Amino acid sequence: MDPMHSGMRYTPKATEHEWDPSLQFLPASDSKKLEKKKGLKAGAVIGLIVFFLVISLMTGLLVWHFHFRKVVKIKKMYTGSMRITNQVFVDSYENPNSTEFKTLAKQVSLELREIYSKTPQLSKYYIDSTIQAFSEGSVIAYYTSEFHVPSGHEDSVDRAMSSMDQIVHKSQERRRTAKLTSGKPVDLVFDDVVTAELDTRLFQTPKALRFYQHTRSNHIGILESPGFPNYPYPPNQMVQWQLRADRGYVIKLDFDTFNLEENCKNDFVRIYDSLVAIESRVMDEICGYYSPSDHLAYVSSGNVMLVTFVTNEARDYPGFRAHVSQIPATTGVMKCGGTLSASSGTFKSPNYPDYYPPFTSCVWSIQVPSGKYIKVTFEKFLVSEPGQDGTSCSKDYVKINGKKLCGEFSNVVETAEESYLTVVFSSDASYVDRGFTAKYEAFEPKDPCPKKFMCGNSNCIDQKLKCDGWNDCGDNSDESDCKCSSSQISCRNGMCKPKFWLCDGVNDCGDNTDEQNCGFCSKEQFTCPHNNKCISEKQKCDGRDDCGDGSDEAECARSNEVKCTQYTYQCKNKKCVSKLNPECDGTNDCTDGSDEENCDCGKQPYKTSRIVGGQDASQGEFPWQVSLHIRGSSHVCGASIISDRWLVTAAHCVQDDAKTRYSQPGTWDVYLGLHEQRDKSKAVKRGLKRIISHPSYNAYTFDCDIALMELDSPVTFTDAIRPICLPSPSYVFPVAKSVWITGWGATREGGYGPNVLQKAEVRIINGTVCNDLMGGQLTSRMLCAGVLAGGVDACQGDSGGPLSSLSTEGRRMFLAGVVSWGDGCARRNKPGIYTTVTKFRGWIKEMTQV
Ligand code: ARG
Repeated sequence: MDPMHSGMRYTPKATEHEWDPSLQFLPASDSKKLEKKKGLKAGAVIGLIVFFLVISLMTGLLVWHFHFRKVVKIKKMYTGSMRITNQVFVDSYENPNSTEFKTLAKQVSLELREIYSKTPQLSKYYIDSTIQAFSEGSVIAYYTSEFHVPSGHEDSVDRAMSSMDQIVHKSQERRRTAKLTSGKPVDLVFDDVVTAELDTRLFQTPKALRFYQHTRSNHIGILESPGFPNYPYPPNQMVQWQLRADRGYVIKLDFDTFNLEENCKNDFVRIYDSLVAIESRVMDEICGYYSPSDHLAYVSSGNVMLVTFVTNEARDYPGFRAHVSQIPATTGVMKCGGTLSASSGTFKSPNYPDYYPPFTSCVWSIQVPSGKYIKVTFEKFLVSEPGQDGTSCSKDYVKINGKKLCGEFSNVVETAEESYLTVVFSSDASYVDRGFTAKYEAFEPKDPCPKKFMCGNSNCIDQKLKCDGWNDCGDNSDESDCKCSSSQISCRNGMCKPKFWLCDGVNDCGDNTDEQNCGFCSKEQFTCPHNNKCISEKQKCDGRDDCGDGSDEAECARSNEVKCTQYTYQCKNKKCVSKLNPECDGTNDCTDGSDEENCDCGKQPYKTSRIVGGQDASQGEFPWQVSLHIRGSSHVCGASIISDRWLVTAAHCVQDDAKTRYSQPGTWDVYLGLHEQRDKSKAVKRGLKRIISHPSYNAYTFDCDIALMELDSPVTFTDAIRPICLPSPSYVFPVAKSVWITGWGATREGGYGPNVLQKAEVRIINGTVCNDLMGGQLTSRMLCAGVLAGGVDACQGDSGGPLSSLSTEGRRMFLAGVVSWGDGCARRNKPGIYTTVTKFRGWIKEMTQV
């Protein structure tokens, strides 16, 4: 029936009849009576109309309610697993098409239906369950259950599902008593029930692919994102791999390539310690880009693992590849705990530096000769997970001296005033991390640091390091109560700091003593950086040249057009802007946009790895780093890529000596994209066409220590081979800024070169201070960089390599300097000296057009 039609039919008819216009023109004798009669009649007519209207409205509503209105229902999926304790696992349970699988699956489904039907909050909404898989122990069943829940009722369903373990338990109790009294056999007995709601994206993605793999010993399986390595992975895809190993083994998943979109909300890989995606069994969620040297490897706690890969809309990312293998559960890297009875030794979490498995529990009992005490140093410590709070450590933790440790740190010391100590490491069901390495040693209670200084945090350091201005202990305890020497600043708080750091823009004392009275101007004034003239703060960046050399208008946050000076950035159209370091910062500062041209440089492709691997660079972390080899021989110098055919290096690397003609292009082999010296197979090798040493290079003073090299053929940029950005002449690398040095140079003075590319963070040092420290040997074309804690520097073999500086907005690296010279290596108060690249920007352009 059409409700609208039925309603419409009466209304106009009634109107037509009752309001016949002819009636109004009849002559009337008793107008009052007539009026009254008329009034009554009209009232009845209106009432009738209203009555019919109400009836038709109600009919309409009822029809709409029963026929057309859809109660909004939400599809909710839960995944779960439970142990069936009275069944024995048979191999055919692995195959979902086997009759054994189907029989047991049917039984489990029926039991689930029964359980849900007895739960009032669930019974109305339950649709169906699918049994996904079985695994060993006795038999573990994995399932998904579907509910259609009217909106507004989701919470009650969530609540009921979160107590599934109790619901199952009760239902089993009930049935057991019923069965016992009826004398029928008891069927499936469930235990260890785990349930959680399934992430909507795991069932809403339009395209889904499922794979199964059973690894065997001595076999390595491959797991790749669709299209890998030839095409980027497809959009809106869900892929799932169910992995199994033999009984008594665990699964190792080891990624050799991992390159996804940066945001895990869009594309992600999740690894589960289960055969279905149960949230409480997630081992990790990963996205973004990892360097191949970054060891992304996981192990399961049992013989199953699930890997899911979800993507949303299209983006061109290559994807990933992982190797799957099985390793014995109780031996090798998985072993942990035990008795340690030597007077010193080391121990680590299972599988370190790869991720430890869930459900780990290790106990180390350390026993040293009686009468001695024990000191444990956690050298590297990475035990953190989402939702874990650093103080309660309620998830994964290390327990020592009754104290729980979690989070990320390095070199933390714990001591026990006893000759016996236990250390416990525990990981829970979800989220894993890399773990820790630790060393322990016995010490004499009366003399915890023989011939050394004992820090407040129980570290022992060389006596010479006390009061030298460097925080060697880590807690600054070696720097308090000091008498300062003449080469030091006496801080008001009692600390001594090297003169080196006086007025360098960093509060080294902690109370700012070293940064007071530095300028010539008062607090409210701005000191012109090049002539020490004092101007009012308000005059800075006001568009007028108040310093006289334009320097107060060169380092502004905004880009106004200003008069050109040597300190301002000049656009291609010869106009100048007042912004500090405007090039390639993502904003158009020049009216002709030239500050954002040629900006395909300085990008680091990978996520920077955490503290694992110490000072080894990650593969591809400094893709502009080049290794210069004497043809057919070994590494001699470093260099930086600035375009697809040009390199920058140090002039002193290309000067002939009695034996070798270093200035000749034919002398050199150039390796680009190299990570390990011992593995050149992945690097790109090139010869040279031309070497241009700076004409003003001075072999005695090392002034103008810069040279250019032209490759014999251009290179193609990859993740491992990319150019660094060149700074314009006006670019400012401020004093105290953190910058990076990289190279295969000697790791200590007089030592050998490493295999893997090394990186270190140093700070830019005030030129005047540095010139004093270096005995006045600096020229204006030299730049100093060192590190506060000492012991970090470039060394022999690093020459020619880059001093890389991250831009202010943190997106790209600029070439601040070229490794040039030093007084020994890493000596205290002897920073490294670098060629100032900004001074040679014009020359580089002239020679190379770059
Ligand atoms: N001249 C050295 C070389 O040829 C590099 C010196 C760098 N030294 C330093 N302490 N920063 O490799």
